[in-house]
Amino acid sequence: MFPQEFPVRRIDHVRFVVGNARQSAYFYRNAFGFDVVAYAGLETRERQEAGYVLKQGDIVFVLASPLRGDHPDNARLAKHGDGVQDIALEVDDVAACFNHCVARGANIASLPKETEDEYGVFTSASIRAYGDTTHTFINRDRYRGVFAPGYQPLAPGRYSSRTSHPVGLTAIDHIVANVQEGAMQEWVHFYEEVMGFSLLAHFDDKDISTEYTALMSKVVQDGQGRIKFPINEPARGRRRSQIEEFLQFYGGPGVQHIALTTDDIVSTVRTMRDNDVSFLRVPPAYYEMLPNRVGSIPEDIHDLSELGILVDRDDEGYLLQVFTKPVEDRPTLFFEVIERHGSRSFGKGNFKALFEAIEREQACRGTL
Ligand code: FE2
Repeated sequence: MFPQEFPVRRIDHVRFVVGNARQSAYFYRNAFGFDVVAYAGLETRERQEAGYVLKQGDIVFVLASPLRGDHPDNARLAKHGDGVQDIALEVDDVAACFNHCVARGANIASLPKETEDEYGVFTSASIRAYGDTTHTFINRDRYRGVFAPGYQPLAPGRYSSRTSHPVGLTAIDHIVANVQEGAMQEWVHFYEEVMGFSLLAHFDDKDISTEYTALMSKVVQDGQGRIKFPINEPARGRRRSQIEEFLQFYGGPGVQHIALTTDDIVSTVRTMRDNDVSFLRVPPAYYEMLPNRVGSIPEDIHDLSELGILVDRDDEGYLLQVFTKPVEDRPTLFFEVIERHGSRSFGKGNFKALFEAIEREQACRGTL
């Protein structure tokens, strides 16, 4: 358990460093249905980077791009391409949380600091996680601004003359890391020892293997079960597994996918597809076997089949899930949309169908 004197409240936001934040904001707004609610850049006297804050339900993404050639994140972009830089966690006491983690061996990314503007005081500190990914602890109990100092609210119509169209995404369900072969246990240990998370689930290569991909995965969660971080490592598969493909194109460990919840996956995915988001397709045979595998569910199998939505059942209930293709040119970060009905697991029964779908995409990329 994370010590009760400074529990993690929730995932505050996910920060992406991208090559062109303005255009990425357009994508996440028009394809994923996010609202662009705040902006920092030259117009707000921010000279180093442009940042856009996007919101849908409880999900907050920050998209940031360097404004100058000498910005240190240019090297990051060259190495990783667009991707997740930081998973920010809201906590009661930033300094206490940071000191606790550092005392247990966390590497420092940035020391606790208070930033102030006319809206109050914003506190933050960061530790390093896998690869070039960080966790920033933040607290804005004494801050009334739209996001953080430097950011200004965007009134509807400021970013675009069109109002946005939410697709029904409500919250972050889990965020998955890919790490190198042999490194999974080290990072499980990091979350257990440094952050007080506990092990929720464990999958080995007997659960997750296909002709090409074999991987192992352990899921850690915070004390309240609100934050779930699965950590994957490749096992030695035949030819090239999707995890190895990620590690190669991302240039090391990083966030592989972010799962976002919806209360109506059929409507959400239909809208996202209409918005031109590309999802992985599963063969029709998957749906022929579905009633035998998961029993009766209220959803229309024709809808699920048309949209490529996968279903899995466990002791507690069932879940519906679907995966986008990577959202950048490199085969790195992608998204999952998930609707849970009692089930708290991760769709183990879908791993094989899912990985075979990913491998068809890898074959198209010539990386299989
Ligand atoms: Fe997932």
